[in-house]
Amino acid sequence: MKETPESSRRGFLKKLGTASAAVAIGSNVFARDTKTGLFTYLKRTDSFSANDRINIALIGAGGQGSSDTETALQIPGIKLVAVCDLYDGRLADAKKRWGADIFTTKVYKEILARPDVDAVIIGTPDFWHQTISVDAMHAGKHVYCEKPMVHAITEGPAIIKAQKETGKVYQVGSQGVSSLGNEKAKELLKAGAIGQLNYAEGFWARRGAVEVWEYPIPADASPQTVDWETYISNTVKRPFDEKRFFRWRNYVDYGTGMAGDLFVHLFSSLHFITGSLGPQKVYASGGLRFWHDGREVPDVLLGTFDYGETTVHPAFNLSLRCNFVDGTSGTTYLRLVGSEGAMDITWDDVVLKRNKTFQNDDPFYAEKMRNAGPGAVERKHMLPPEEITYAAEKGYLGGPYDHFTNFFNAIRSGGKVVEDATFGYRAAAPALLCNDSYFKNEAMHWDPENMVVVKKG
Ligand SMILES: NC(=O)c1ccc[n+]([C@@H]2O[C@H](COP(=O)([O-])OP(=O)(O)OC[C@H]3O[C@@H](n4cnc5c(N)ncnc54)[C@H](O)[C@@H]3O)[C@@H](O)[C@H]2O)c1
Repeated sequence: MKETPESSRRGFLKKLGTASAAVAIGSNVFARDTKTGLFTYLKRTDSFSANDRINIALIGAGGQGSSDTETALQIPGIKLVAVCDLYDGRLADAKKRWGADIFTTKVYKEILARPDVDAVIIGTPDFWHQTISVDAMHAGKHVYCEKPMVHAITEGPAIIKAQKETGKVYQVGSQGVSSLGNEKAKELLKAGAIGQLNYAEGFWARRGAVEVWEYPIPADASPQTVDWETYISNTVKRPFDEKRFFRWRNYVDYGTGMAGDLFVHLFSSLHFITGSLGPQKVYASGGLRFWHDGREVPDVLLGTFDYGETTVHPAFNLSLRCNFVDGTSGTTYLRLVGSEGAMDITWDDVVLKRNKTFQNDDPFYAEKMRNAGPGAVERKHMLPPEEITYAAEKGYLGGPYDHFTNFFNAIRSGGKVVEDATFGYRAAAPALLCNDSYFKNEAMHWDPENMVVVKKG
């Protein structure tokens, strides 16, 4: 029998023992791996091969590029051979960290010209992603590019084209999509665990100076130690400005604000979990409320996104909020809300909450009650669990490790990655349109299937 959303939902409920209120909780789904009541561990059963060695190079050796490299090097068969950055301090750090024998340069094209480099990690600020990605694939390199894939909505098609033309593996770095948490959420949604998806929401709250992009500026920062001319060579020309180099996220020429930095992760996860291609309407509101430090981007941003009905999901709404002002540092979540419950999703766990009240849908029981007449006292129900936590097993290496494993496996086996250029563009686009909506003070419209901005009126 072909599986429909309804039959799959019934299957899930059956496993939970809630298909009929009269049925006791079967709990088979919990019995395995259960340590404490309504708690089950997530684990991978597939193993990864480490056949040929893959040589990698890092372009943009700051915080995330370095962290990506550390993750990549945990995977068997991966060797770092070269590093590129525009600041002397980062190149010196790279040699200290990964060995004096690695090749270092300030010119990324020197990395791309090296025959011993199979794949590059791009960890530069957002406004360099497109140029380096396209150049790298045309130079024959596989690419792991940090999110958001592009800095402007117009930049996506060139990367998709380069990937198609060159056949290189291209993975975008929203690592959550490869995590056990996202995988479990996808499985639960498909199984009908929250019923019909109607609404989703995500949230961040930060306050610490570094968290809100007031990064420390090295004491030796100067035009002698920073290659400023190369840095601004693809954008507006300005005199050397250390803040624009080390705190680039605060300026629209280089970064993509809260939407490109943070919302994009949730678009990636949401699209992976639901199979959605993206929203059709984007509206943002917000303001610069607290951090009057010369930044050009808001420190409070609210985005609403309308997802239309498709063959894989019903129409639903998404609300994303971010503030850099409230002091509850680090608070973040993605929640999917359905007609029968909700799921809070992180990379490492999923907390499934089921509605407390529900209608008995057992037709035989309903018939019995009808026949019993008006005086019949309804029998008490066996109640289903209200909350179940699925948590990654101890020792789980996490979404970043899984995401790089997915990337290297695709290179080794000629397979597919979970977050290719098309997926990456569909995740970046609503984030970038959210910024456009904020700055233009109007709703933006998007055709997620054909990936084009729609002009209304
Ligand atoms: N996936 C994630 O969870 C995650 C987390 C943080 C950052 N990021 C992304 O990673 C990227 C880097 O962010 P970051 O926090 O590491 O910034 P960063 O400022 O710490 O690092 C950027 C580095 O790029 C170098 N650089 C700038 N232009 C360059 C160029 N043209 N060629 C070579 N090097 C260049 C800078 O000198 C700097 O060292 C951004 O796109 C960001 O959105 C992703």
